Amino acid sequence: MKVEVKQTNDGSNTLFVPELNEHYHSIHGALQEALHVFIKHGLQPVIENATEPIRMLEVGFGTGLNAILTLQTFLTEKATVFYDSLEKYPLKEELVTELHFENFILNPELFEYFRQLHAAPWNETVKISSNFSLQKIHADLETRSFPDQYYHLIYFDAFAPEKQPHLWTEEIFKKLAATLKTNGVLVSYCAKGSFKRALKAAGFAVEALPGPPGKREMTRATKII
Ligand SMILES: C[S@@+](CC[C@H](N)C(=O)[O-])C[C@H]1O[C@@H](n2cnc3c(N)ncnc32)[C@H](O)[C@@H]1O
Repeated sequence: MKVEVKQTNDGSNTLFVPELNEHYHSIHGALQEALHVFIKHGLQPVIENATEPIRMLEVGFGTGLNAILTLQTFLTEKATVFYDSLEKYPLKEELVTELHFENFILNPELFEYFRQLHAAPWNETVKISSNFSLQKIHADLETRSFPDQYYHLIYFDAFAPEKQPHLWTEEIFKKLAATLKTNGVLVSYCAKGSFKRALKAAGFAVEALPGPPGKREMTRATKII
């Protein structure tokens, strides 16, 4: 897929895919969106309730923004995390450089970790920091199978349902529900009614939460069965 670097309204960069007419993050602010949806409303509550090492799955590694913000969070946490991230279309190294994330990941230590996230080999678990291990999985969500009752948290960060309807189905959310532990959480920037209905049908309790700047709502879903 052809992609172009674009600046978003909070000054952070994202990628634009002309073929899909779709951005990797909110044009209102990539960094703000990732911090609000995935860190504040996904990760933080899971850390607060953690009684064992946290296992989490991201759908769409993309630029590695969610991954580096998660690693940043764990720099000041005692908890340990195993971060698995699925990606069907890994980005070329040159493109990651062109994103110039050093312009908003200002801490040089953190930026070095960002480089390591991208340099890590695919399909291997690599310890990046004392309490953050990464496994980038080069695979397609549609065909990938996952262990039962395994993850505490899922960042569901696929392209929008209008662009990739086959990834937002009840069947996909049943598969994701099965790999979550009971009370496990799935978060997404998306607040569409059809998404929330598919989650409910798959066995989730669904909450609509206030969205990041520029978006009214986001979704958090908890596996209840
Ligand atoms: C909205 S972007 C994710 C942004 C990413 N989380 C980040 O922090 O930059 C969607 C991502 O899902 C990936 N993707 C698209 N279809 C996929 C599929 N079938 N299986 C796995 N990943 C997929 C895309 O290549 C893209 O990286």
